[in-house]
Amino acid sequence: MKRVLNFFLFAAFLFVNYAAALAANLAPIIPAPLKVEVGEGVFVLTAKCRIIADVESKPVAKLLAARLKTATGFSLKIKSANIEPLAGDIVLTTENSNIRLGAEGYQLAVTPRGVVIRATIGAGIFYGSQSLMQLLPPEIFSTKPVAGMTWKIPCVEIFDEPRFPWRGFMLDVSRHFFTVTEVKQVLDLMALYKMNTFHWHLVDDQGWRIQIKKYPKLTSVGAWRDGIGFGLDPKTATAYDRAGRYGGFYTQKQIREVVAYAAERQITVVPEIEMPGHSSAALAAYPQFGCPGVKFSIPTKGGVYTGVYCAANEGTFQFLEDVLAEVAPLFPGKYIHIGGDEVVKSNWNACANCQSLIQSENLKNAHGLQSYFIQRIEKIVSAEGKSLIGWSEIREGGLASSAALMDWIGGGAESAASGHDVVMTPTKFCYFDHYQSTNRAAEPKAIGGFLSLEKVYQFEPVPEKLAPEFHSHVLGGQGNLWTEYVPNLRQVEYMMFPRLGALAEVDWSPKAARDWEDFKSRTLLNEQRLNALGVKYRPLSKPE
Ligand code: ACM
Ligand code: ZN
Repeated sequence: MKRVLNFFLFAAFLFVNYAAALAANLAPIIPAPLKVEVGEGVFVLTAKCRIIADVESKPVAKLLAARLKTATGFSLKIKSANIEPLAGDIVLTTENSNIRLGAEGYQLAVTPRGVVIRATIGAGIFYGSQSLMQLLPPEIFSTKPVAGMTWKIPCVEIFDEPRFPWRGFMLDVSRHFFTVTEVKQVLDLMALYKMNTFHWHLVDDQGWRIQIKKYPKLTSVGAWRDGIGFGLDPKTATAYDRAGRYGGFYTQKQIREVVAYAAERQITVVPEIEMPGHSSAALAAYPQFGCPGVKFSIPTKGGVYTGVYCAANEGTFQFLEDVLAEVAPLFPGKYIHIGGDEVVKSNWNACANCQSLIQSENLKNAHGLQSYFIQRIEKIVSAEGKSLIGWSEIREGGLASSAALMDWIGGGAESAASGHDVVMTPTKFCYFDHYQSTNRAAEPKAIGGFLSLEKVYQFEPVPEKLAPEFHSHVLGGQGNLWTEYVPNLRQVEYMMFPRLGALAEVDWSPKAARDWEDFKSRTLLNEQRLNALGVKYRPLSKPE
């Protein structure tokens, strides 16, 4: 008798969980939308469906049609908005959009008769199309045709918009180089989760990665090093030249191509040109912009180096002005990131010119010199029509008036409270180069630390101590992938997933709606999408 009772209890438990999972999985979208109502029935996508798009929505219609074609084999016709929709049509429109939707919000209605995505501009239409993709069976993400599928979409009403305007991911292409094709794949993976800011870390000690026409040695010398370095197996990477040197760079034409590709996916590219520290690669090419007598070379290991520009050399500022004048027009976004982190002060302390500048400018010390340097660069960035953003340390000696702060080791709350915009990327929650397990032996080699999926999910971008009137200065949260131990795209994917999904939900979804168990069930389902895409991820079933 007891066993029978136990069986029934067990069956009831299963049923409850199955029902919960099913309910969650009817709209298993990452990041979770603001409001979802699940209706009765399904819409079935067939080869006869058409996409009807107004002028603003046309680019999204083209991307969506191409996306749907790969797995379904359907060549859906795209029609202009002046025709009457038929049963089975997918309508993308900015007409009669709800004025409560911001620039990035959208409404998505799926009924058995059709699909309508409505938004104020193309950005929202794009995000609606991403949600639609996630409502289809996961096989829709396949990179090859999938036979024998019925492409059902559950009937839903979604009203959605993001919590934060900056939903960022940073890729370091200096420690290891990633080709244009690989960078585009990263952008595609960001777009899947409605991430909208790609911070492209183009410059660091170990390599300069952007062509600057006036200073060709930045890439002929600065983009190449003796080997893969970091103690890694040379075979784990492919970025070598004929002479066996490791590295690479993007031509300005390629940069434009990546920026355009990102824009189609509603992603703004923020270039980072590191200064005054982390500049060994630039100084190996042009040592005259370092403090006199210092020798510079490109390191093949991680760490913090003395590759620092001389702050007392007017030539340095002319050089950086020339560089930024070539960088700025390539990137239509508001911000140029100038780094500013981990500036080793030893050269400045030993340099007679830097020391006399500290005296003549009435600066306290080398920290004051850092502030002097950043403030001069801010004027150059402003003159290019851009805004400066930099890491926590640009606060040393006082933050330049119009600068935004990227907080990795503090200063975000204080800067926001004094009216500066901030992006939150604290190491404790946002460093995707950290291990995903405490059992390091079972993981690919990483730089250190431990950042679990749950920890990312617990991240709150608005600092607790920040008064509500300053909350709007917190632009959002960003994940940073430093690549010392990430020599290839497969490894990038492994470090991104599933953690990027958690970050996307932190950045997009309402704070009150965060639900770890529900997120895990959607993450499990999302593994099927990543399988279809051929993305290497860390499975949820692998113990931490
Ligand atoms: C940093 O991680 N050095 C910004
Ligand atoms: Zn100097």
